[in-house]
Amino acid sequence: MTDLARLNHATAHLDPPLAVVDLAALRHNAIELVRRAGGKRIRVATKSVRSREVLRAVLALEGFGGVLAFTLPEALWLAGSGFDDVLVGYPTVDRSALRRLAADPRAANAVTVAVDAVEQLDLIEKATAEVAEAAPIRVCVDIDASWRPLGGRVRIGARRSPLHSPAAVAAVAREAADRHTFRLVGLMAYEAQIAGVGDAPPGRPGRALAVRAMQRGSAAELAERRAAIVAAVKEIAQLEFVNGGGTGSMERTAAEDAVTEIGAGSGLFLPRLFDGYRKVDGRPAALFALPVVRRPGPGAVTVLGGGYVASGPPGMDRLPQPFLPHGLRYDRQECAGEVQTPLLGAAADDLAVGDRVWFRHAKAGELCEHFAELHLVQADAVTATVPTYRGEGRTFL
Ligand SMILES: Cc1ncc(COP(=O)(O)O)c(C=O)c1O
Repeated sequence: MTDLARLNHATAHLDPPLAVVDLAALRHNAIELVRRAGGKRIRVATKSVRSREVLRAVLALEGFGGVLAFTLPEALWLAGSGFDDVLVGYPTVDRSALRRLAADPRAANAVTVAVDAVEQLDLIEKATAEVAEAAPIRVCVDIDASWRPLGGRVRIGARRSPLHSPAAVAAVAREAADRHTFRLVGLMAYEAQIAGVGDAPPGRPGRALAVRAMQRGSAAELAERRAAIVAAVKEIAQLEFVNGGGTGSMERTAAEDAVTEIGAGSGLFLPRLFDGYRKVDGRPAALFALPVVRRPGPGAVTVLGGGYVASGPPGMDRLPQPFLPHGLRYDRQECAGEVQTPLLGAAADDLAVGDRVWFRHAKAGELCEHFAELHLVQADAVTATVPTYRGEGRTFL
């Protein structure tokens, strides 16, 4: 049975728009991530999954432990439902969520927040000052993993933490360690220019060579600097973890002795943007189906919905990929529309009104902001249907 026939058979009783997770592909991808992590544990990036049930299923597999959440309200929600190791990977200034964290010893035990400046420590202290018997807030210092070659004249990487040098990181770490409000437990650094930039962009051999050279240089610089930072901070506090990397950088990040765990999630669903990486190999595990609602003419069909554009620099690569049946493409005048999307190509002539077209999202978890449920497909049947965050009424961002 082809994948198309299998997915159509599994979901024949359901009316699209609908989203599925192919469990065999998810499992295959999870095992592949574990292999690439080379023995280091993988902390699952929740933004790239956005379904508690799927997160639980992945965490049950060997090699995975803890989650990397994207907001503090999300982390509190997860901690309240049994997730016992939740690192919020981005700074938080949500005062009411901080108060809830400090007031709940169980949550405070499970959740760690990221900081990269003394002003964030000040804000947390101020927000929680009135909480009676406040629990210490677990903090992790977020390091700038960008590369600054040519004596700092060039900056390659995401604009995240301002803390670049071991001294700068140690200064914030010391502040956190010295204040009663906090317990310094970890370090993290996300090397976006390696983990999030494909080194094999399709049809662009020149760019591929440039990206690989950049990533080699950046990885060498970061390995040395990260080791020095970890050594400096270990003088200040005992660290429970040093988190780094992502789906696109697993082998490189895991090879650093200073790193204890990898934060990754996209490789589980394997969205379109991860096709252009030499080391990322897997099967698309999250797909959505849209129904053909009309046929504007020969070589064209129109499906309902489709404009699920991914975040990041706008471009065609942020659109969902018409995936199955093969041979469909966007009309460049319309692309993926708000309510309807025309698709062109010879394959269109084999589709009737009421048939479905399967798509991959460009990114991983953002798909779940458009669907309340994920139908879990095993072979050619739906074996369970689980809610997304959105399906549970939770839209954190
Ligand atoms: C802090 C952090 N760690 C890890 C990742 C990697 O996530 P993924 O594997 O989904 O690309 C990201 C992605 O942006 C991130 O922001």
